[in-house]
Amino acid sequence: PVSAGFAPALVQWQRRDGRHGLPWQGTRDPYRVWLSEIMLQQTQVSTVLGYYPRFLDRFPDVHALAAASEDEVMSMWSGLGYYSRARNLHRCARTVVSEHGGSFPATSSVLATLPGIGDSTAAAIAAFCHGERVSIADGNVRRVLSRLLAFEGDLSQARAQRELWQLAQSLLPEHPSADDMVAYTQGLMDLGAGVCTLRQPACERCPVAGLCEARRSNTTDRFPVKTKR
Ligand code: ADE
Repeated sequence: PVSAGFAPALVQWQRRDGRHGLPWQGTRDPYRVWLSEIMLQQTQVSTVLGYYPRFLDRFPDVHALAAASEDEVMSMWSGLGYYSRARNLHRCARTVVSEHGGSFPATSSVLATLPGIGDSTAAAIAAFCHGERVSIADGNVRRVLSRLLAFEGDLSQARAQRELWQLAQSLLPEHPSADDMVAYTQGLMDLGAGVCTLRQPACERCPVAGLCEARRSNTTDRFPVKTKR
C-alpha cells in the first residue's frame, strides 16, 4: 500500500489542528456546500466570508437562486471576480431544479455533469455531504500528494493528473464513516492551504512529514512537476 498511515494521521490532525467553524462547515446541505466550494475556487476564505452569508440570505435555497434573474445573481456576486462562476452557478441551479427535481445529485459522478462543477468540486460536495469515499484533487491537493509520493508525472498533462488521482484514491481512509471523510477532505485542503504551501512548506508542522518522500529526499521544491503552464 502507498503510504500506510497517511489517512489516519491526516484525519486526526484535521480534528485537532485543522480549520473549524467556517460557516459552510456546519452543514451537509449540498446547496450550501456547493455554493461555498464555487466561491472558494478562486477566492480567499477571508473574502468569501463577506459574501457567503449575504448570498444565502438573498438566495436561501436552490429554488430561490433558480428563480432569480441573471442580473440579480451577478449583482450579488459583484466583487468576487471570475464572473463565469456566477453565470454557471445560476445555470447549475436552474438545471438542478429542471432536471433533478430540485435536489442535488448524491454522487460525485453525477454532480460532475452539472454546469460549473468539475471533478474535484464534485468530489468535495459528495465527500462533505454524503461521506462518499472519493478524493478531491484540486491544485493544492495535487501539490501535497505529488510531494508525499515524489510523483514524477508532468501535471500539466491530463494523463499524469488522472494517474495522481488514482493514487489519491488509494490513499483514502479504508472504511471511513461520513465524519471521517469530512475530516479527511478538509484535512487535505487545510494541509495544502496552510502547511504544504508552494513556497517554503512548513514541514515542521506537517502531520505526515514522516511519510513524505519529497521531505525525506529534501526535494519539496521539485514537486509538483509541471513542464508548462
Ligand atoms: N477551499 C476550498 N474549499 C474549502 C473549504 N471547504 N474550506 C476552506 N477552504 C476551502
